[in-house]
Amino acid sequence: MRRGKVYSAKITPPLLKGAGGIYERTQRKGKSKKQAIGESSQSVFAEDFADLQNEGKNALLTAGNSEDLSFLPSQSVDAVITDPPYFDNVMYSELADFFYVWLRLALKERYEYFQSELSYRPEEIVQNEKSGKDVSFFTEGLTNVFKECHRVLKDEGLMLFTFHHNKLWAWENLTKVLLDSGFYVSSAPIVRSEGKSGYHSQSGNVKYDACLVCRKRQSTSLGFCDWNTLKNRIRQRAIHWLKRIITSEMELNEVDIVVIVMGKFLETFTCNYPNIICDGNPLDIHPAIHDMPRIIDELVGEVTRTEVLKQERKEPVQLNLLKSYFTSSLTLVNKE
Ligand SMILES: C[S@@+](CC[C@H](N)C(=O)[O-])C[C@H]1O[C@@H](n2cnc3c(N)ncnc32)[C@H](O)[C@@H]1O
Repeated sequence: MRRGKVYSAKITPPLLKGAGGIYERTQRKGKSKKQAIGESSQSVFAEDFADLQNEGKNALLTAGNSEDLSFLPSQSVDAVITDPPYFDNVMYSELADFFYVWLRLALKERYEYFQSELSYRPEEIVQNEKSGKDVSFFTEGLTNVFKECHRVLKDEGLMLFTFHHNKLWAWENLTKVLLDSGFYVSSAPIVRSEGKSGYHSQSGNVKYDACLVCRKRQSTSLGFCDWNTLKNRIRQRAIHWLKRIITSEMELNEVDIVVIVMGKFLETFTCNYPNIICDGNPLDIHPAIHDMPRIIDELVGEVTRTEVLKQERKEPVQLNLLKSYFTSSLTLVNKE
């Protein structure tokens, strides 16, 4: 991790960050050429975890259900960097079938995984009512995965993944999954996730992810915190990121503000849970999430007033649409 930090500090203009590495633009025979620079690493695969300790071996590759990481001993891992599914956002196996059926023709005799006619697996963690997988199936599965990540991580280890969703019920369930599996979010920087030409880059789609840096919750008890103080902290932290995005002239819309506020909610709420007091009583996730639309609404209003959205879209901002969007977020929180 330290080497990674030193490496990233080397990035200075005119170097360009892009997919797959860091590039330098050079001119050759009148043509501009992008050339990859920096470290490259050569993988030498181990057979299993014990073999990984042997000199010269530096990688272990395996495919399977992440609810079972029994091939890794407890407290043996420095960092888990993962990319879990996002509730009902993408139906991975349904999309994979398009390619799977063709690959299967050539691979079914060699690999057991290609035996079944479609890529669907009962253990796939997804929220898809059509295949009988509801939100509790999803949250139970992801909790099992994160509990395994917690088991294999060293006490000072980190688990990292990025997350976005435009519905508050998804953030509520994710908060519960993280706390139930023994994690808190120690920081949640906001990163641009979709490039201008990405699949999901149409206006109205989420363009930012909260990069969730999770650590193991400690049993030592923290002091009690007042919810109003924490709500103000969430608001201030969200304003900090909004200012950064606006001053760097990047695009921003209402759903991006949802991601920013909810990322800051996760960071602030999970760090202090269960010692959060509201009106003299301990506060749980559900009522805390209910307070977020007010902050989101207020910040959307402020951003709208500064005319930033108008300038970006070159069209009038539709405040009525925003209002109905937030009403429906609240309805969904109630429903779940
Ligand atoms: C957000 S995607 C990851 C995409 C990946 N980072 C990539 O660039 O191709 C989440 C993945 O988790 C997989 N998944 C779902 N349930 C799983 C499970 N129980 N064990 C392992 N992977 C699972 C899905 O099939 C999907 O491919």
